[in-house]
Amino acid sequence: MTTRRPFIGGNWKMNTERASASSLVRGVIDGLVGLQGVDVAVFPPFPYLLTVGSILRERGSAVRLGAQDAYFEPDGAFTGEVSLAMLRDCGVSVVLTGHSERRHILGEGETIVHLKTKAVLDAGLECILCVGEKLDEREEGRTDSVNEEQVRLGLRDVPAEQVDRLTIAYEPVWAIGTGRTASPADAQDAQMKIRRVLTDLYGKDHASRIRIMYGGSVKASNARELFAQPDVDGGLIGGASLKASDFVAIVRAAVAGA
Ligand code: 13P
Repeated sequence: MTTRRPFIGGNWKMNTERASASSLVRGVIDGLVGLQGVDVAVFPPFPYLLTVGSILRERGSAVRLGAQDAYFEPDGAFTGEVSLAMLRDCGVSVVLTGHSERRHILGEGETIVHLKTKAVLDAGLECILCVGEKLDEREEGRTDSVNEEQVRLGLRDVPAEQVDRLTIAYEPVWAIGTGRTASPADAQDAQMKIRRVLTDLYGKDHASRIRIMYGGSVKASNARELFAQPDVDGGLIGGASLKASDFVAIVRAAVAGA
């Protein structure tokens, strides 16, 4: 960790129900009372955004409301899709793009990821662009080239003025939901190289301010060591974000490692 303020996101994916989403966010709020020096966001499923958002507002919490996805068109005949204006209307301030489950399960290609990333930033919201290699790509020694390509294509035509609202999440696909975490050294190496790409695109000043999160089987027991790496500016947490006490422990590890 460096002078960049750590950022921890809880990506609830397609989990929770209305009651459990409410108690989960209440547990997160309670567990983080008084904690400073870290940005935290939760990403509930779309149907619970308003419920979770209103609990955050009622409690005056600094935890931010995030969306797991968004469509890039402003409105129209796009059955099943959700626009950025709708999300903003629900209190969302940060949106994930390029999550590996959308790339590899839902079949989103680079063009869609790019259009979504651009739309989020053009809408004035914060974007977390997720990148990361699959196991076969890692085994073929292509980790850095895959990350570089996903960063460059995702950020095509994104101007430097917008990248202060950008975070990158490095999530090696083989580490997501598998219990297999990248070693702190491997995460640092990949993320340092991602920062080099950002430096090439936007210059050193901008690149040194962009936060790069690590995601993939982060737990309370491994978080501190990961977040202690100089280019690991926090984490995007899946499974361990579904239990308030685990998620809170991970956020606390980010503050301790800062
Ligand atoms: P897990 O923490 O469950 O591995 O998920 C990581 C992730 O995909 C967060 O977006």
